[in-house]
Amino acid sequence: MASASSPAPAVSNIAHGVAPLRAGHGSSFILRRLHSLSGIVPVGAFLFEHILVSNSTAITGPDAYARQVSFLANLPLVFFLELFGIWLPILFHALYGFYIWYRGNGNTIAYPWSGNWMYTAQRWTGGIAFLYIVWHTYTMRFTGTDLHDNPAASFGKVAAEVHDPWLLAFYVIGLIAASWHFAYGIWLFAAKWGIVSGDKAQQRLLGLCLAFFMLLSVVGLVSLYTFRERFQEPPGPGANIVETQHATPSSGRPVQ
Ligand code: HEM
Repeated sequence: MASASSPAPAVSNIAHGVAPLRAGHGSSFILRRLHSLSGIVPVGAFLFEHILVSNSTAITGPDAYARQVSFLANLPLVFFLELFGIWLPILFHALYGFYIWYRGNGNTIAYPWSGNWMYTAQRWTGGIAFLYIVWHTYTMRFTGTDLHDNPAASFGKVAAEVHDPWLLAFYVIGLIAASWHFAYGIWLFAAKWGIVSGDKAQQRLLGLCLAFFMLLSVVGLVSLYTFRERFQEPPGPGANIVETQHATPSSGRPVQ
């Protein structure tokens, strides 16, 4: 143990916080860096766009939402954008995240605050987000109406999905888990890469990350409320048809 007069060993600075990612751990160092970075770009950037830009347009109504989906569907090389910009990075981040979880010996010696709750929450929110993303991608992108071919059906398709109370609960839990994971992940990223160091600065950043978590959650919840409760006939047989007619974009890019 260090005496009061002798300088404390360097490791004691790390033991109370998140350890920076350090070179010298072979391929695992590179993979840890890639995992960490992929959480921000492109996966985090996509989540930001998905909740705060694209889905929030639903709040202004089915027409605006259809135009946004149409815009995304008509981006050049959209399949490759999705494959290399979204699906493969999420798959890498998730699979390596499960591996880190399973190994349990991350470079984090001890996350600060109350008994490593944050450490546990980061893993469980990642796991829940993974289940949610698999389900959401399967139902919205690969089954039922193809929304790239028929953006006008987008609002109705989401509305029909969240009309089921169990699925609505799943969406709410998935949204909050992903929002927490990303918001606290920004804090982790900044600590590990040495972008924000020092107790005060890290506390301030934590406050900002919590505010960002609230923003993502509230905007996401208002969007879900809009899909479920507003701009539509009560769901039933033909609800999609009503919605589709209602949601035909009045302007914007041509619908394929
Ligand atoms: C919604 C999609 C996701 C986003 C936006 C995201 C974002 C992030 C960010 C920004 C970080 C902090 C980077 C760092 O620790 O340096 C992180 C960490 C982490 N993520 Fe994700 N992630 C997502 C999905 C997942 C999934 C599906 C898993 C699977 C379990 C996962 C597992 C992890 C783990 C274990 C860490 C902590 C690594 C550590 O403590 O060293 N993430 N994530």
